[in-house]
Amino acid sequence: MISQQTIQQILSRIDIVEIVGSFVKLKKRGANYLGNCPFHNEKSPSFTVSPSKEIYKCFGCGVSGNTITFLMEHEKYSYVEALKWLAQKYNVEIEEKEVSAEVRAQLQLADSLFIINNFAREYFTKALFETEEGRNVGLSYFEERGFSEETIRKFQLGYCANEKDTFAKAALAKGYNLEYLQKTGLVSIRYEQPVDNYRGRVIFPIHNQSGKVLGFGARILVKSDKAPKYINSPENDIYVKHKVLYGTYFARHSIDKLNECLLVEGYTDVVSLHQAGIENVVASSGTSLTQDQLRLIKKYTKNLTILYDGDAAGIKAALRGLDMAIEEGLNVKVVLIPDKEDPDSYVQKIGAAAFREFVANNKQDFILFKLQVSMQDAGTDSVRKSQLVNDIAETIARIDKLEDFTKQQDYIRQCSQLLKIDEQGMVNLVNKYIRERLQKREQQFTQTQPAANDDLSPEALAAMAAMEGAEMDTATEDFFNTDDKHEKELVKILLRFGDKTFNDENHPTVADYIFHLPYDFESLANGEMVKRILREYKTFYDDGNLPDKKWFLYHQDPDISKQVTLILEDKEAELSHNWVDKFEIKTVFGDNAYLRDTISTTNYLILRKIKKMIDENQEEMQSATEVEAQIACMTLHQHLKKLEKELTNGLGTVIFR
Ligand code: GTP
Ligand code: MN
Repeated sequence: MISQQTIQQILSRIDIVEIVGSFVKLKKRGANYLGNCPFHNEKSPSFTVSPSKEIYKCFGCGVSGNTITFLMEHEKYSYVEALKWLAQKYNVEIEEKEVSAEVRAQLQLADSLFIINNFAREYFTKALFETEEGRNVGLSYFEERGFSEETIRKFQLGYCANEKDTFAKAALAKGYNLEYLQKTGLVSIRYEQPVDNYRGRVIFPIHNQSGKVLGFGARILVKSDKAPKYINSPENDIYVKHKVLYGTYFARHSIDKLNECLLVEGYTDVVSLHQAGIENVVASSGTSLTQDQLRLIKKYTKNLTILYDGDAAGIKAALRGLDMAIEEGLNVKVVLIPDKEDPDSYVQKIGAAAFREFVANNKQDFILFKLQVSMQDAGTDSVRKSQLVNDIAETIARIDKLEDFTKQQDYIRQCSQLLKIDEQGMVNLVNKYIRERLQKREQQFTQTQPAANDDLSPEALAAMAAMEGAEMDTATEDFFNTDDKHEKELVKILLRFGDKTFNDENHPTVADYIFHLPYDFESLANGEMVKRILREYKTFYDDGNLPDKKWFLYHQDPDISKQVTLILEDKEAELSHNWVDKFEIKTVFGDNAYLRDTISTTNYLILRKIKKMIDENQEEMQSATEVEAQIACMTLHQHLKKLEKELTNGLGTVIFR
């Protein structure tokens, strides 16, 4: 929704050294800058930033990218969030494209909820540290639980006074809308009066990945059968429970560095582990994991380690959700915390070092763990045992075969050994589940797709299939795939010289020349990427403003951005000089390199098309039975040959106008 103009404005101001430098300490080394890589642990710096190329690259772990991908990786921003961050930094006013009134209202609502939450967070912190009740009740509770002031401040913990409406009054006095206050769950209406929802509770703000407060968890201080232990914010426009994990904001860098995410159940587990220096930890807040939460984790790492309190009910509930994690391609490990402890109490009991060691030594593979738990469960009951063989086969079937074939084979081997069953039998069973899953997927697909070919005869279907197969024979395909260098070269010319003058009245710029050739470049492009870039460039061109090459370098689609980086850097793609020599192209443009490149590249592509037409025409000539048809083919052949010759003699531009 940010306008293209705004984006171009932002991109034109990007200074990669300044931006990356605000997160990583950089030192100048020759033309480049060097620092310790923020994406992996290292002692000697191998993270390089090139201001001229506007990219960074780490020679230790291999990460690379541009300013925007840096913000996306390091801060876990979305593309749009990264742009907004840059806009703020460079004081670029964001011009939003027209959005519907409905969307605008939604955005405003979300903004308002964030603002209210932020006010509440500050209010509860103040109440904790600066009121007598806060200190006596809230702060002393946290201290009793072993939380230091530093930890409390870091997690922005707070306290809500045990009174009817102190917070509500303060918020309303500030002018916040009562309806929105209710939406956040901070205030509700009782007997037509606004009242505080979190009375007498300590407060855990729940942050999004960039540190904004989405909602709260509020814990009761005294044991009670009537009141729930925690009250959480209700779902609203910003707090979407199944997409949130508590602690991601504080854990993200550590997860990145250690390439592992620890998952615990509760708020206090996250806080305690952080205090002990174990920072790669997030909490599911007591519910089983959702697909969105798994994807959130996958943004940081593929290695998920789950720390369970050892009680059986909890384990079983959690195990069910984890098949999904396997499907998402995560490596799931499980650690059982012993003796009725939870990670919070256990780390406080045995200390940080012992806790780390315990986790490292007691990590079990999830699938094998699941198998062992269910084997114990089933005992000697043969019905349950066969049930569990099926269960485990189904779980194994969820491993993406293409991606992790060896992993799947490994599990089949290990599980059949544990179960003392025949390995081939297990293979067959797993395959059966894979087939079932594929069938289900196909069904879903055909249910949503109208079956267009239903009413065609088998003959017609066969004919259609033959036609599709014949669309491109291998010879033609080879010809087209010999090199797509020229197509990339075309993209490079457009990006670098598109706006430069082309010495021609009818075609003032290079882009004008290229897009007015009697030739549809897009239809010829081999590479899907090249096609997409050309298409997008053409859209700009048609709108009357050419895109800056930065537009593509910082493209929202990382594949395009990567491809353009390569194309602009690629030395090999500079084929035109060879080509000019080979075909002795003489142009009227003398030494002007970009003009010569433009002509020679476009000529090559046109020549390639002519060669293809000649081939096709010759085939047709051979199969033609009518004399007229043969003559027509011959005439065309001569014409094409003439064009080819003229083109290779460097007269192409003249003929083709
Ligand atoms: P402590 O007893 O303070 O150690 O709390 P805890 O955070 O360890 O809680 P517990 O182990 O009892 O529960 C784990 C998580 O489940 C909590 O952090 C909450 O997210 C969630 N939870 C527990 N009880 C409730 C409840 O009554 N209501 C809601 N909404 N969530 C709860
Ligand atoms: Mn606990």
